[in-house]
This record gives sequence, structure tokens and C-alpha cells, in this order.
Amino acid sequence: MTHNQKVRKAVVPVAGLGTRFLPVTKTIPKEMLPIVDKPSIQYIVEEAVCSGIEQIIFVNSSGKEAIEDHFDTNLQLDAILQKKKDPRLIEEMKKLSQMVQITTVRQKEPLGLGHAIYCAKNLIGNEPFAVLLGDDLVDAKVPCIQQLMQAHQAQNANVVALMEVPKDQTYLYGIADASAQKENPRAYDVRHFFEKPKIEDAPSNLAIIGRYVLSPKIFEILETTRPGKNGEIQLTDALNTLTSHEKVIGLQYEGLRFDAGDKIGFLEANLYFALKRPEFKDRLSKILRRLEL
Ligand code: UTP
Repeated sequence: MTHNQKVRKAVVPVAGLGTRFLPVTKTIPKEMLPIVDKPSIQYIVEEAVCSGIEQIIFVNSSGKEAIEDHFDTNLQLDAILQKKKDPRLIEEMKKLSQMVQITTVRQKEPLGLGHAIYCAKNLIGNEPFAVLLGDDLVDAKVPCIQQLMQAHQAQNANVVALMEVPKDQTYLYGIADASAQKENPRAYDVRHFFEKPKIEDAPSNLAIIGRYVLSPKIFEILETTRPGKNGEIQLTDALNTLTSHEKVIGLQYEGLRFDAGDKIGFLEANLYFALKRPEFKDRLSKILRRLEL
């Protein structure tokens, strides 16, 4: 890996079909579902921007243009807000469309997460890059991807975000076979990743979540990675090949993570982020107490 190159670009794959969230995702992209009053994709883009990312590359598919439109200007809406003389909303809309440079590339068929990342190859070029998956929302003092970028800078390694999960849930995740680094208790040297292992086969309870910093070597590997589980080109398979070429570490990030791609996780994220807002906290708490009765 080129020594300590700064991470400037992030790939955000959004081309998935969102079948776990049907029927709403029949016409609305999963990434556009609101967490309180912002689509979940906006939390992801804000995390990247707060971490110093300068360019976001969406890997998108047809029918999901609302995602890139959300970060574009909307002249008609701007004119209406000007007429209504609402300076707060005018400013908010302006900020949204100027937040960061966004580029979109298409994944023409949903051939898997590994393939989606490969679609960004020419836009990334020969430099390390971040990957953020929209399903994982992380609330943290230091944004999750920034924690990974710092570990990448310090160790000149590929970095995968890890979280501890209950032992009986390992079959739901990609699980790391890894040893804790002596000098850095939250970092692990990774030997191998196992995709959704049975409880008795899981080498640890450290699960992969959707944040990575990867070297461009991954593109070379993805090019020859054969379709794996479900006939999809799996990022986990490519990461396993990567471990035999370059250093791959896991970082147990600090923060609270929500699985917004799952219905219950999505509801939990909505309640959590709403309860954090002073204007909703008291009324929402009251409603929750009443519903419990
Ligand atoms: P998931 O496996 O969660 O798939 O993808 P999904 O389509 O989003 O949701 P379900 O399982 O059908 O409900 C993980 C991430 O990879 C992207 C998805 O958009 C999501 O961010 N992805 C997946 C692609 O961009 N392309 C693919 O071919 C597959």
C-alpha cells in the first residue's frame, strides 16, 4: 500500500434492492426513508463530510435517482422558499446542496456489494478510500469513519469496523478471526473473515459493520473474485484475499450503531435520534410512556 496516503474519497453503494423493507422500497429507495426528518443517506454523507472526505461516489441503480437529487439544488423549491421568506429553510437547503462534491456511477445489475465497489474503480484511481454502507448508522463523538481513517493513517493498513455481538447472533454477520494488538486494545490483526458462521464455528464475536478504509489493491482482487454466496460477488471474499497481500486490521470503533436496514433497527434509530432533539424529547417520552400502558 502506498505509504500513509490521505483518504479523500468515499464510496457509498446504494444500488441494492432493499427487499427486507418491502413494500415501501417498491418505489422509494431504502436510503431515502426518514430518520426523524432527514433521509438516512444524509446521516451517512454528513458522517463522511465531518470526517474530512472531499468527494462521495454513489454507486446507484436505475429508479433510485432521488438519492442524488436530494444533494442537488432544486430551483423550483428555492424560488418558493424565497417567496415565503423562510431564511432558515433557505439556508438549510443551500447547505445540503453545497455540502460535498457528489459523483454517481451506475451498477447495472445487483451483482453484490463487492461488484458495487468495483464499479467505482475508475473514479477512485490509485489511492486509499473509505466505504460507508447506508444501513449502518453510527452516533459517535468522533465519526465512525474518521476513527477508521485515523487507524489507517497510523498503521498504514486496510481497516474494517468491528463491533461485539452476542455469541448466539454471530450467524447473522461477517465474523473476524483476529488477535487484539498489544499496544492498541481496540485494534485487531485480522487473519480471516467468516460470512455468517454457525454459532459453533464462529472464531470470535467480532462482527463487521458497514465502514471500511481500503487500498486500491481491492479492485485488482475484485476483478478476479468469483461469485460466492447467493451468486453475488462478496466483499468479504475479496477481503480474505487482501489479507494475504496487505495488512488488514479490525477496529472496534466507539459509538452507538443502529441497523437501519432492518425494520426494528430503523424504528429504534428513529426513536433514538428523535429523543436526542430537545424539541421532541419531552413530548415523545410522554407518548412512549402512554403507549406502554
Ligand atoms: P444488502 O445486502 O443489505 O442488500 O446490501 P440491500 O439490497 O440493500 O437490502 P435487502 O437485503 O435486499 O433488504 C448492503 C449494501 O450494499 C449495497 C446496498 O445498497 C447496501 O448499501 N449493494 C448490495 C449494492 O450497491 N449492490 C448490490 O448488488 C448489492
